[in-house]
Amino acid sequence: MRLLLPCSLLLVSSFNNDIVQGLSLETASSSASSSSTSCSLRQTQFPNSIPVSDADIATLIRQTGQVNPSKAAIGIPSCTNCRHGFPQAFAMDPLPPSNTKGRINSGLLKLTCPLLVQAVDALEDDGIIPLWNDRYVKQDQVLQEDIQQTHALHAQVRQKLLQQQPQQPEDNSDIIRQKLGEKGAEAFLRAGVAGSSPESTDLKCLHAWLADALFRNNNNKVGNLIQKELQARGVSMTGTDDCRAYCDPNMTGAFSPPKPRNKQRLRTGKELGRRKRRKQELLQQLQPGDDDEL
Ligand SMILES: *[C@@H]1O[C@H](CO)[C@@H](O)[C@H](O)[C@H]1NC(C)=O
Repeated sequence: MRLLLPCSLLLVSSFNNDIVQGLSLETASSSASSSSTSCSLRQTQFPNSIPVSDADIATLIRQTGQVNPSKAAIGIPSCTNCRHGFPQAFAMDPLPPSNTKGRINSGLLKLTCPLLVQAVDALEDDGIIPLWNDRYVKQDQVLQEDIQQTHALHAQVRQKLLQQQPQQPEDNSDIIRQKLGEKGAEAFLRAGVAGSSPESTDLKCLHAWLADALFRNNNNKVGNLIQKELQARGVSMTGTDDCRAYCDPNMTGAFSPPKPRNKQRLRTGKELGRRKRRKQELLQQLQPGDDDEL
């Protein structure tokens, strides 16, 4: 098993940038050689990310229970908080090759640690998003700027990724226009965190913000708010002693992953109604969500 460096180690040595760079470069090349055939052709471009290995994809499938969407993963954070050494978030190809069913990912990052996903679901279910928008975002210009800078970073990375040689013979932008229409394609290219409009300062999907914080060494203020709130609720960023079964594809036997909220809700008319509304909203502006594949 490839062991990811614990983030605590990187933070300690971040006083010396050369050391950090050396560490992550070494990790990146060893992981590149250990990854044999990845379905995706694009190279990860997200800050502090390293390419996924086949083992990481197996972990992602285990974490999410989704096979095809998982093949669109291209990167993981260069270090992890997980005490078992598994990635807790993945960077996704915005336009995965058609052999992965060619869905478009409006969000670049996916939070995947099942315990963190569940904990953030609980935050959202408790109405934290409108509360924080009112209490913090609207009052705090520095926070607003941080949000918009993070949106801009995501748009920039998405555009850089799409400039890479596509597997399909057609031009990437043609494919996107075909799938989303002229207006949708434009929104897609400019979209920020979790597909948000780049001008927007309203928080939408906290999962993506936490994923961003995991990649960028907690270098986003929303991510810090989320981690503080999780800590207050007794959620550990490093997992639990026995949560390994959620992420280790080699573990067999009785195993029931925490159910992602969408799967539970899907049975209810409420979720179906939500999906329908989301589709309509997409015509005007890509909206974020927990299920970013369109
Ligand atoms: C699973 O088993 C394979 C084969 O023994 C091994 O190479 C791999 O590292 C194991 N994965 C984990 C997560 O332990």
